[in-house]
Amino acid sequence: MDEHQQGRQDRERAAGNSRLIEDRQAGRNTAARPQAHRPSRNSVSGRRTAHRHRRYKRGKALYIALGIRAAFALIVLLLAVGAIRGIAGMFRHHGQQQAEESTEEASSAEEAAAPEETQNPNIVTSNGRQLDLTKPMVAVTFDDGPYASVGNQIMDTLAQCGGKATFFVVGNRAEKYTDELKRMAGEGHEIGNHSYDHDEKLSKKDAKTIAWEFNSCDEEINKVAGVTPAVYRLPGGINSDTVRKTLTKPLISWSVDTEDWKTRNAQATVNAVVGHVRDGDIILMHELYQSTADACKTILPELVNEGYQLVTVSELIQYRSSGPLEQGVQYTDFHPKSGDAQAASSGTPTVDVDQETAGLAASAEESGSAAAPSGSSAAGSSAASSGGEDNTEN
Ligand code: NI
Repeated sequence: MDEHQQGRQDRERAAGNSRLIEDRQAGRNTAARPQAHRPSRNSVSGRRTAHRHRRYKRGKALYIALGIRAAFALIVLLLAVGAIRGIAGMFRHHGQQQAEESTEEASSAEEAAAPEETQNPNIVTSNGRQLDLTKPMVAVTFDDGPYASVGNQIMDTLAQCGGKATFFVVGNRAEKYTDELKRMAGEGHEIGNHSYDHDEKLSKKDAKTIAWEFNSCDEEINKVAGVTPAVYRLPGGINSDTVRKTLTKPLISWSVDTEDWKTRNAQATVNAVVGHVRDGDIILMHELYQSTADACKTILPELVNEGYQLVTVSELIQYRSSGPLEQGVQYTDFHPKSGDAQAASSGTPTVDVDQETAGLAASAEESGSAAAPSGSSAAGSSAASSGGEDNTEN
């Protein structure tokens, strides 16, 4: 160390001392001053306090920032929830509306159906369609079939106008026309029993023969079409005491005779029906003639246009008779105000088709002998009829 260096150190030390002296004179303790001013810097607790202070300041800012963010997030959340609830509400409302609407629809459908189906006892469902019991009805009947070439045309016409009819068929013809018989049953028409052999003299035979004729026909129809006839029509409409005691199912005659078997003219057949029908009538036609099938194309739609419901005989009985039918009585009609059922006078056309059906082999003699009683019965008075088996019915 040279003199210069030593000198500078001395000066520096002197300067330091003089600063200390000045401080003391001013009452300041240079050593204590930093402690007084920044006590924390130099001690552990002080550092902690400072740290806490900084943390506090930083924390406060953080809290404010967090608070703002939280508030913002909350607002966003609330908006989102509100939106979701709003949308959900809309859906729910829509759903409810739909549910309400569908309920309303259902109930209105019920209301619409109810008055017709259940609330109005005058509307009934029968054979696949509705009948109004307060409106006129008529039973159209076709004898002596089955005979597919005519019967199918008649059924076509019936289908077009929504009508049902009764076919009084002959048992021994059933096997030949199984498809036609099945169609009758399938389309809601009634298959009646017109005996097995269509013997015009059946009423004069013994009880066993009479029973066999109708039982065999019942069985034949059941075998072919799966249905058993509920109503009978006697061959030629000829009744007898033996018949009355033997046959227990309703015997059905007619009130409107078209004589289609005799005229074999479509227009004549139409004329016999149109304008001559009343509520509850039973119309007689035959299933054997093309002229009859042609006539039906006019008659059936015309009857419907006039407000008649084309019903089966069993429907007419069900909806128009006031009680069980009497055994052995031939019913000609079920007019509404005539006490429902009127027993036919046996006087009804003995000359019927029967002869015609049998026309297969009816001799001139037979038709001649049949013509006489028919004339007398046509006179309309049962008392006037020639003492036949049937003239005593009222
Ligand atoms: Ni007949």
